[in-house]
Amino acid sequence: MIRVLVTGGAGFIGSHLAERLVEEGNEVVVLDNLDLYYNIKIKKKNIQIIREKGCKFVEGDVTDYKFVKNIIKDIDIIFHEAARPGVRASIKDPFTSNLVNVNGILNILKASVESNVKKVINASSSSVYGKVEYLPFDEKHPTQPLSPYGVSKLAAEHYCRVFYEIYGLPTVSLRYFTVYGPRMRPDLAIPIFTKSMLNNESVIIFGDGEQTRDFTYIDDIINANLNIMKTNRADGEVLNIGGEHYVTINYLVNTLKAMLGSNSHVIYNESVKGDARHTLANIDKAKQLIGYKPKVLLEDGLNRFVKWYKENKDFYEA
Ligand SMILES: NC(=O)c1ccc[n+]([C@@H]2O[C@H](COP(=O)([O-])OP(=O)(O)OC[C@H]3O[C@@H](n4cnc5c(N)ncnc54)[C@H](O)[C@@H]3O)[C@@H](O)[C@H]2O)c1
Repeated sequence: MIRVLVTGGAGFIGSHLAERLVEEGNEVVVLDNLDLYYNIKIKKKNIQIIREKGCKFVEGDVTDYKFVKNIIKDIDIIFHEAARPGVRASIKDPFTSNLVNVNGILNILKASVESNVKKVINASSSSVYGKVEYLPFDEKHPTQPLSPYGVSKLAAEHYCRVFYEIYGLPTVSLRYFTVYGPRMRPDLAIPIFTKSMLNNESVIIFGDGEQTRDFTYIDDIINANLNIMKTNRADGEVLNIGGEHYVTINYLVNTLKAMLGSNSHVIYNESVKGDARHTLANIDKAKQLIGYKPKVLLEDGLNRFVKWYKENKDFYEA
């Protein structure tokens, strides 16, 4: 039995990952400090779900080296999802993004080198690209992040690569592209739009709505992580994990409105500094090295999200 640690496992992606890892027969420990970035009750609901599946939950902080060292002593593989997410939050408070996203991975890597950890899989982000020179982004595209969040995720990737090259610790960084699905973070567009539309309230778009995103369904993200457990071909690498198609925010809003039968008006506000204009992943490298192939198309994924949202109306409520 493989013993895995999922950091940030009370959050959106980490809790889905923990669930699947248990289902696949692994022994799963979840670590999270229940950070107050969003409603802690949501995180507690996630913990209840993963505990019922058989995960062990430990409350703790990845910025605490002693704690990290102690918790990973019997762990084989670490999935590092813990982070201070959010471009806008990082603009308001760059210190916290840096502390959690940079010191956090550094603690994980250093403690891993000093114990028996066989691989660290690091959750990175399309935010490392920032300024667009060409699309789709392949992994050789220049990295010029537009926000402190992007900078912190890029620094984390470099630490992973350096720990592979200097200390021989197998690491892989996965650049996730806008992840969505049931239990997704409440600060992201899809749940905010869905709530407004179901109440026939106005929907606010930042910018002209013609910015594009490569939306990636949560199950595809989880499959990419699981594929990495089965191969060492991506050790020391960064891989784009995207959905293989992109849409404008206007298209997203119109699609959701049609699905929900909503009459919501759209209000356009000033665009937010730090937000990328476009994201789209070239996923050839992930296809080649880990056999990654996204399966869920946007309309299907949105339908699944909306169905889940309607059946779990109180999930986001305090
Ligand atoms: N959701 C996306 O679209 C997306 C896109 C690109 C990259 N990512 C990355 O994926 C990972 C997971 O993101 P998510 O959307 O699930 O976010 P999330 O906020 O739902 O999950 C992150 C979890 O980390 C925990 N955490 C924060 N600080 C911590 C600390 N110091 N010690 C221990 N735990 C801590 C939080 O409590 C939270 O439960 C993050 O690394 C994020 O940067 C997410």
